[in-house]
Amino acid sequence: MKILAKNNFKTWKKIRYFNSKKIIDQVIKSKLTGRGGANFPTGQKWKLSYPVEYLICNADESEPGKFKDKFILENNPEIVIEGIMIAMKALKAQKCYIYLRKEYQKFENKLKKIIFQNSPYDIQIVIGAGAYICGEETSILNSIEGKRGESRKKPPYPAEKGLYDQKTCVNNLETLARIPLIWDKNFDNDLMLFSISGDVIESLILEKKQGLKIGDLLEETTPINPKAIFFGASGGCLPYNKNLILSYSEIEKKGAFFEAGIIVVGQERSIPDICRSIIQFFNEENCGKCVPCREGNFRLLQLFQVIKKRKWTPEEFQMIQDLTEFIPNASQCGLGKFSTKHLQNAIKYFPEEFKKLCK
Ligand SMILES: Cc1cc2nc3c(=O)[nH]c(=O)nc-3n(C[C@H](O)[C@H](O)[C@H](O)COP(=O)(O)O)c2cc1C
Ligand code: SF4
Repeated sequence: MKILAKNNFKTWKKIRYFNSKKIIDQVIKSKLTGRGGANFPTGQKWKLSYPVEYLICNADESEPGKFKDKFILENNPEIVIEGIMIAMKALKAQKCYIYLRKEYQKFENKLKKIIFQNSPYDIQIVIGAGAYICGEETSILNSIEGKRGESRKKPPYPAEKGLYDQKTCVNNLETLARIPLIWDKNFDNDLMLFSISGDVIESLILEKKQGLKIGDLLEETTPINPKAIFFGASGGCLPYNKNLILSYSEIEKKGAFFEAGIIVVGQERSIPDICRSIIQFFNEENCGKCVPCREGNFRLLQLFQVIKKRKWTPEEFQMIQDLTEFIPNASQCGLGKFSTKHLQNAIKYFPEEFKKLCK
C-alpha cells in the first residue's frame, strides 16, 4: 500500500526550504482531495486559508464503519507527522493540534515520540471528547477550546475565524498522511483507503482506486449474501449490485453519498432494523443545539420504537417520510443534514420491507 510507504521524512527534507506558494501549487497540481468526507480539493483549501495561525489534524474518526485513520496510526504514524510538518510550513501555521479520538489514545505516546524526534514545529495532541459531533470542523474548535462540543454557524468558516478566533485549517488525518506522497511522480489521487465491515468474512482496510466496482472491492473479503451497502451512517444506502461504481458522482446519481466506510448488509437482515439503530446513533450523537435535528431525530426514534408493539398507521408512516425530508432541510450542520439519508434511501430501495410494518 502506498500509504504505508516508509518515507523517513524524505519529502520533508527535500522541500523544507521551498516557499509556501511552491508547496501549495504542488498540492493543487496533485489534485489531492480531502479524505474527511467532503472530498474538497486540499490545495484549493490551503490557498484560500493561507496563512493560518492553527492547523488541526482531525483524527476523531467516529463515523460508524470507518477505521482507516486508525489503520494509518497503527502502521505508519511517521507519515502523518511528516504531512503535518509540510502543511504547517505551507500554511505558515504556528501550532498544530492533533485531535485524537478518545479510543485512539493508545497512539498518543508513539506520536509524541515521533514529534519530539523529528518536528521543529509545535504539535500538540488533544484527546477527543468522545462524541461524533466533535469531528465536525467547527465543533472540533469548541472542543479544543474546552467548550461544549457543538457546531458553530457558518460562515464564518474556520479559515476566516477558527480556533480562538484565529484563522485555522482543519484537515483529515488521511489527507495529511497523503501529503508527503504527492511529490512522487506516480502519485494518484484516486487511491484511497476503504474500511470494509458488516456481513463479510473478515473486516479489513483496502487501498484501492475510487471508480472501481463494489464487486471487485469486496473480492478480497467475501461478502455474505449481500443485500445492501451502507456508506457509514450518514452516506445512506443502496441495494447491492456487484457493478456499482464506487465514485462520488456515481453514488450521488443514485441518491446516496460516498463514504469510505463500506458496511455490507446480508439478505437475512432487516433494513428497517438497521435504520432504527442508525436513528438511535444520531439521537445519541447530535449536539442538541437546533430543534429540527434534535427533536426530529427523537420523534423518528419514537416512531421506530412503536413497531416493537404494533404496526404503523398510514399517518405514522407518512410522518416518517416527511421527517426524512424536513430534518436535513432545516438542520444547521452536516450531522442533521445527513442524518436521514439512510432512511430516505432505504424507503426508496426497499419499500416492501417498510410496507410489511404498516397496517
Ligand atoms: C458530524 C460530522 C462528523 C465529522 N467527523 C469527522 C471526523 O471524524 N474526521 C474527519 O476528518 N472529518 C470529519 N468530518 C468532516 C469535517 O467537518 C471536515 O470536513 C474535515 O475534517 C476536513 O478535512 P479534509 O478537507 O482533509 O477532508 C465530520 C463532519 C460532520 C458533519
Ligand atoms: S444539526 Fe444536529 S448536530 Fe448539527 S447543530 Fe443542529 S442539533 Fe447539533
